[in-house]
Amino acid sequence: MKLILLWVLYSIALSVGLVRSGLRFRTAPSSRRSASRPTRVLIIGATGGTGRQLVTQALARGHAVTAFVRNRSKLAIEHLQLRIIQGDVLDYSSVEAAVRGQEAVISALGHKQYFWPTRILSEGTRNILRAMESHGVPRFVCETSLGLGDTVGRMGLYYSFFVIPFILPFYFWDKTRQERLIAMSKVDWVIVRPGALTNGEKRNAYQHGPMIGSFIWTVRISRADVADFMLNQLSENTYLQSTPGVCW
Ligand SMILES: NC(=O)c1ccc[n+]([C@@H]2O[C@H](COP(=O)([O-])OP(=O)(O)OC[C@H]3O[C@@H](n4cnc5c(N)ncnc54)[C@H](OP(=O)(O)O)[C@@H]3O)[C@@H](O)[C@H]2O)c1
Repeated sequence: MKLILLWVLYSIALSVGLVRSGLRFRTAPSSRRSASRPTRVLIIGATGGTGRQLVTQALARGHAVTAFVRNRSKLAIEHLQLRIIQGDVLDYSSVEAAVRGQEAVISALGHKQYFWPTRILSEGTRNILRAMESHGVPRFVCETSLGLGDTVGRMGLYYSFFVIPFILPFYFWDKTRQERLIAMSKVDWVIVRPGALTNGEKRNAYQHGPMIGSFIWTVRISRADVADFMLNQLSENTYLQSTPGVCW
């Protein structure tokens, strides 16, 4: 009984910390409601679940895509408009080489090193932002997660009291750092916060905005629909400099 109580207290304390240190949704500046559609797009994390969807859908939309990958053999997509660059997001020179000449960057960076403190997301994003700022690349769309900042609790009870406190506390701290770095940057950014990801079908119908999710049930969305929403953010300013959630 004591253990359960301690666990609940720890989970609540973690949630309070994530709220206090995280970003809050802001409405986009009204003077900037439209954007031109960037042609050249760099996709970071292109070999991941969301990343592969981003590459496929971006090519289908007619973008010239550069995929930033650690291992070429993990991206079995061939297309005349696809260029693959090998590198590591923690290595600034490889990030800079990929960012140079782009019109926009999309990141679906993630990793599986859950059980000890890491700074892969924040340091990797710091490199991306630094390269974007020094090469004048204007737009950054980055996938983080519901459950950060003012969306704490909105992944549902299972995530709030088990997955985040038990499996993902370090990961979520680093995601908070990552979001803060983006908010402090000089680029035009949109942080996309999805619910739990699935490899399901693209439904083309999902909710988005600041007040979505559930404090009780786990909310989900397919990586295909997340990619669709992220690609829309390249040419829409509705959520510029803000943190929309997205789920079914
Ligand atoms: N899973 C969920 O339910 C859920 C829910 C909400 C949000 N999210 C977040 O959504 C994002 C995307 O998730 P996902 O499951 O689609 O992604 P994923 O399959 O985990 O893919 C992550 C990508 O990041 C790449 N990467 C990792 N470290 C790198 C490095 N040092 N340099 C360059 N690339 C690196 C990986 O490359 P390799 O292929 O070489 O490893 C991979 O392409 C993540 O940030 C995740 O936390 C996930």
